[in-house]
Amino acid sequence: MIIAQITDLHVRPPGRFAYDRVNTNAMLKAAVDALMRLERRPDVVLASGDLTDCGLADEYVALRELLAPLSMPVYLVPGNHDRRENMRAVFQADGYLPADGEFLHYVIDDHPVRLIGLDTVVPGEGHGLMCLRRLNWLETQLARAPGEPTVIFMHHPPFLTGLADMDRINCRGGDSMADIVARFPNVERVLCGHHHRPIQARWAGTLASVSPSTAHQVALDLKPDNSPTMFNLEPPAYQLHVWSPYSGLVSHTAYVGDYGGPYPFVLDPDYPGHGADNAAPAEAAE
Ligand SMILES: [Fe+2]
Ligand SMILES: [Fe+2]
Repeated sequence: MIIAQITDLHVRPPGRFAYDRVNTNAMLKAAVDALMRLERRPDVVLASGDLTDCGLADEYVALRELLAPLSMPVYLVPGNHDRRENMRAVFQADGYLPADGEFLHYVIDDHPVRLIGLDTVVPGEGHGLMCLRRLNWLETQLARAPGEPTVIFMHHPPFLTGLADMDRINCRGGDSMADIVARFPNVERVLCGHHHRPIQARWAGTLASVSPSTAHQVALDLKPDNSPTMFNLEPPAYQLHVWSPYSGLVSHTAYVGDYGGPYPFVLDPDYPGHGADNAAPAEAAE
């Protein structure tokens, strides 16, 4: 099973750019095209929040059109740039979002890997939260299938990354969530967005990670006082998390765009192993 992760799409109304600079809609279209060109297509696509830039109804309509070419199921969770009510209005018909209740969290049991989407949004705030209600919900869902390989996906990372200004708006309640997740060794991965960079950490007895954005990236600045966070236009990317019962979940980052190649590995005559297959046994023994 291949799980594609796209994140921080920051879709705008048609014709408008994010921060007056980033054509996020065109960049999402390029990412969707890249996914559909893969010779081995993903089985599902997860989008881990900041689906739109401002949570506007027009942005969700544009998002729906941009995602339409994907032939596999697509599962969305909101981020701090989203608005639950507008997201729900446009995507409710897909059938996996809860019909009522405050949070847009859910479990997908249709695949070899169980998928748990978490809603970490605090309306009007940049940071996220796993509050008591959400922690209890997560614990209940994990306890229902403790033997199933499981991926949790969410917008705000519940762990610290060293990107100090972003860490200030990460997922609060992360330690409480870690206490729960650590009791379920079947959690293969906690997949996040929000930080717009490729980041991995050992956390709660599993691996937690952040995928780069399909649009702009957060500048890498590990100074303790790195405020304000700046963005740049490093290559847009998505991740492929490949599951097999033999090797578990293995994750790859793929860049969207043409960077040259593919080229064949034609070995230089000076390469140490060049011609090794034809080396005479006597020579090899010297
Ligand atoms: Fe974002
Ligand atoms: Fe975010």
